[in-house]
Amino acid sequence: MAANEKLQFPLVDSSYDNAEILSCISTLLSGQLTMGAQVRRFEQEFARHCAAPHAVMVNSGSSANLLAMSALTNPLRSKHLKRGDKVGVPAVCWSTSVWPIVQTGLVPVLIDVDPLTLNMSVAALKATLKQHELKALMMVHVLGNSTEMGELLAIAAEEDLLLVEDTCESLGTTYEGRALGSIGTFGTFSFYFSHHMTTIEGGMVLARTEEDYDLLKCLRAHGWSREQSNREALERDNSHIDPRFLFVNVGYNLRPMEIQAAFGLEQLRRLDTMNAHRRTNVARIRAAFAAHERWRGQLHFPTATRGLDPCWFGFPFLVDESVQLDHRGFTRALLDQGVDTRPIVSGNMALQPALKHFDIDISMGPFQGAQRVHDRGLFIGCHAKPVAQSVIDGLVELILRSLEEHSR
Ligand SMILES: Cc1ncc(COP(=O)(O)O)c(C=O)c1O
Repeated sequence: MAANEKLQFPLVDSSYDNAEILSCISTLLSGQLTMGAQVRRFEQEFARHCAAPHAVMVNSGSSANLLAMSALTNPLRSKHLKRGDKVGVPAVCWSTSVWPIVQTGLVPVLIDVDPLTLNMSVAALKATLKQHELKALMMVHVLGNSTEMGELLAIAAEEDLLLVEDTCESLGTTYEGRALGSIGTFGTFSFYFSHHMTTIEGGMVLARTEEDYDLLKCLRAHGWSREQSNREALERDNSHIDPRFLFVNVGYNLRPMEIQAAFGLEQLRRLDTMNAHRRTNVARIRAAFAAHERWRGQLHFPTATRGLDPCWFGFPFLVDESVQLDHRGFTRALLDQGVDTRPIVSGNMALQPALKHFDIDISMGPFQGAQRVHDRGLFIGCHAKPVAQSVIDGLVELILRSLEEHSR
């Protein structure tokens, strides 16, 4: 970066090129626009990439969460949750990690997070289990990190909890070599523009059993029988109905389009390379901070939990409680100088006004960990392309200078 050049460090740097564009154009020219062979191919390749048995593509990460919760509560599932059952969810999460729990008649119970990992605190989970009979967990893997997975899996097995992994921010992170999202009953992913890979908008649900795979496909598209593995038997049993319009369950329309899958197939090809760049960029930003003494005692950098190889969504940091920070002034100064920041997901979810209109359990509050993340946490991008060392040095210098200028 030249001395007179203005620093530009947006949250997201576009990660596609002609390969995605040409693939979309040839899909448009093929005449098959609605869900078809491209979607099926993308699902198969994505499942293979995550070493998961089954994948079902949808039109967003939010739809993926809605589909997963709908499958868990569907009366046709052999083991299903019932109206009013409680589901634990970390107090730092995304809105549509929580809403699908409400929308499917379940009661979310907010659980505090560990500000040093940004993820659900195992101690808080244990405390919650003493007071609430949870039936499932919506495990939101925040910003590429995760809760202590070893402990979590042991608790889930002991308490017989169903596990949905909201992996919308953590594609590429592994726990003891296994892809996050492939471990629980369902794993959900978002391919929104700013995520590890994109289909512009889009999402995916990973499933482990044939039963769940059939169920997800049925609920995704109207509840009809077309993609069911026992389709022939269903048609035979209902021979008085036109088999093209045979409805065997309830359902939505959450289908993706062929061009999204075509885009995704190209992105998937470069995902490992993009994620390698993310890892390198995070390590280099961290090293650039380490080269300065000035951050010590002022900033904290969240750490990965045991057994995890995180593929960060961004570069998060927390400003120490001892620093009297003018938060708005700090983020505005950074933005004015070319550096975009975001709160850590939606901060403390318990504060959101929508909660008071619905049956969402916040009895385990106050959520001190989530509040700290809310008040003190921010993240900057980490980018899926190499970032020049001069940009990283300028970025770190700017953050430290702005921090000094906006704290008392
Ligand atoms: C943790 C989490 N879950 C779900 C979603 C929803 O994904 P989408 O924007 O694709 O609907 C997001 C979006 O950023 C997210 O961060």
